[in-house]
Amino acid sequence: MTQKPFAPSADNNRHDILAVLKAELLPTSHVLELASGTGQHACHFAQAMPNVRWQPSDLIDKLDGLQLWLDESGCNNIEAPLALDIGSAQWPELSVDACYAANTLHIISWELAQPFFTGCASVLKPGGKLLVYGPYSFEGEHTAPSNQQFDEHLKSQDPKMGIRDVWELDRLAYSVGFAAARLIEMPVNNYIAVWEKIWEK
Ligand SMILES: C[S@@+](CC[C@H](N)C(=O)[O-])C[C@H]1O[C@@H](n2cnc3c(N)ncnc32)[C@H](O)[C@@H]1O
Repeated sequence: MTQKPFAPSADNNRHDILAVLKAELLPTSHVLELASGTGQHACHFAQAMPNVRWQPSDLIDKLDGLQLWLDESGCNNIEAPLALDIGSAQWPELSVDACYAANTLHIISWELAQPFFTGCASVLKPGGKLLVYGPYSFEGEHTAPSNQQFDEHLKSQDPKMGIRDVWELDRLAYSVGFAAARLIEMPVNNYIAVWEKIWEK
């Protein structure tokens, strides 16, 4: 039997992220969440923004746990979670106002950063926003010693993981139709990068 998963980080950061989402999203936005993890964010944000339609997704093996959170939430504005591997060549045929991901770009390999932006650009409407929460480095420099330690920890677990340089991400984003990132500072040395889709590749 699947145990209901719980991520302390998602519990800690949900209020601060929600404040940004409320400011950045239209009240009736249709949002695709990549790498939803436990589903805690999906439930918290959908409950707090009842006119938003929230589409969670993750790797197929995460969906049973995620579904347990959705079942308990009682929200009717959360859609059935999609099995979506960011590296897949076949992203779902969606047309959404926003894409959202938290603590994902340092988990997926650098090779998957390109399909991440290409896929988001493919499902976003013109003018749509991609909002990505997490730690970033700038010109290869970490923003805090704790981020450097976290980066070293990630790489010791798997050399393909690691905190990404926001300007390198920005170049990928630009190549598939996004404007330069707007960076919103968040607690504990995190940011939300907001990329707006300005042209169709
Ligand atoms: C650190 S967790 C973050 C989960 C959630 N967004 C949060 O903030 O709590 C990273 C997530 O990335 C997902 N993930 C890893 N590789 C992925 C891939 N190739 N495609 C989609 N999701 C992936 C994992 O399954 C996991 O749920």
